[in-house]
Amino acid sequence: MSKKIKVGMLGIGNVGRGTYQALEMNRSLIAEKTGLDIEIVKILNRSPEKDRGIEIPKEKYTADVQEIIANPEIDIVAELIGGIEPATTYMAEALANGKHVVTANKAAIAANGEKLAALAQENKVLLRFEAAVAGGIPILSSLTGPLLSNEFTQVHGILNGTTNYILTQMSMYGKSYEDVLKDAQEKGFAEADPTADVEGLDAANKLSILISLIFGTAALPEDIPTRGITTVSNVDIQYAEDAGYKIKLLGSAERVGDKVYGNVEPVLLPCEHPLASVNNEFNAVFVNGNAVDELMFYGRGAGPLPTGSAVLGDIIDMAGKTEKGSAFDIVPKLRYDSDLKFAGEGSSKYYVRMAVPEKSGILGKITTIFGEHDISIEVIRQEAAYELDGEQVVSLIVILFRTEKSNLMKALDKIEKSDAIHSVENIMRVE
Ligand code: HSE
Repeated sequence: MSKKIKVGMLGIGNVGRGTYQALEMNRSLIAEKTGLDIEIVKILNRSPEKDRGIEIPKEKYTADVQEIIANPEIDIVAELIGGIEPATTYMAEALANGKHVVTANKAAIAANGEKLAALAQENKVLLRFEAAVAGGIPILSSLTGPLLSNEFTQVHGILNGTTNYILTQMSMYGKSYEDVLKDAQEKGFAEADPTADVEGLDAANKLSILISLIFGTAALPEDIPTRGITTVSNVDIQYAEDAGYKIKLLGSAERVGDKVYGNVEPVLLPCEHPLASVNNEFNAVFVNGNAVDELMFYGRGAGPLPTGSAVLGDIIDMAGKTEKGSAFDIVPKLRYDSDLKFAGEGSSKYYVRMAVPEKSGILGKITTIFGEHDISIEVIRQEAAYELDGEQVVSLIVILFRTEKSNLMKALDKIEKSDAIHSVENIMRVE
């Protein structure tokens, strides 16, 4: 006979709906494979009249969160409302009440993961959050399970589906950022308020969790240098492609000595890099371990069913452990205790697009200033003149060999103070 596991779910938005649907679809298969009969018995839903596009018996709904987090019948609480609060408070109360907690909430885990993990430990219950990073891709359990024997020196991820969809459509069809965003919103890929996605904040939350798991050090999302895709233009995409690169919004972290550098930025990736072929709403995480070498995880980073699959994976794992009586472990373990220190932006190769006056001697002045700052130029390209703010200018595109960002900014500041430039139009890292 299957053992019954009762789950209470907070929220019935996209992820909640996907989790419910995935369980309905595969409940008997899960029972066959695991001997566990998992049932979502209560759902926090403060707008039960709203059509969710899914049949759920009305008696499962409650508007009172305590009916879930303080309910002695419930074994596992699935927090799927998103946002830092009240989600963190609800999870903390559920853990304190002896419930195992699963969440898809990257913002709450990035901000309060340490506190929640300590509470789980204190109360000898489990806290799982696979769905918080890259949706359906099982990256966290892989890094902290089968890959534990490795030391990792770097991680690069396409961690946001909305922005990858926008950049792919701009690159493939030459559409403008505004047109693709509108199209993505109409198709339901992008949120009505896309700020967290397009400004890179969603990816910074996910990178913060990856840095803690991989390097054992704290990098709060607000400490990670973050830039979204709103400044990437079709012109940049075209110039990058002509030089053999694709532009992708990457969350990256790298260990150098006892420091960890990291950022979320649009980056020029060589076309032959495996991440360059990850298109549309797909996500991917690329890691380099000292035993396993290079690995890439690819899949859907968003969407109800893929994210629901990750939530259910955690629920099944927790239910299996409870069933065997080993109801406590600390995997995946968020760590903030290593000797490594997060040091923000490091050095990199850079792409710079400038609008410069169309007159003699300009190139000489600019290259001299780069030279004075010990910045070496790998590629330089100049385009036909056009009018900008009533002035005839040309686009000057340079790809620079590795330098510190602060050094590059000093050089550009000097260039901007000279008469050799109209404006710096864009700066991007080159991987
Ligand atoms: N909004 C995110 C994305 C999914 O577009 O990838 C949830 O993290």
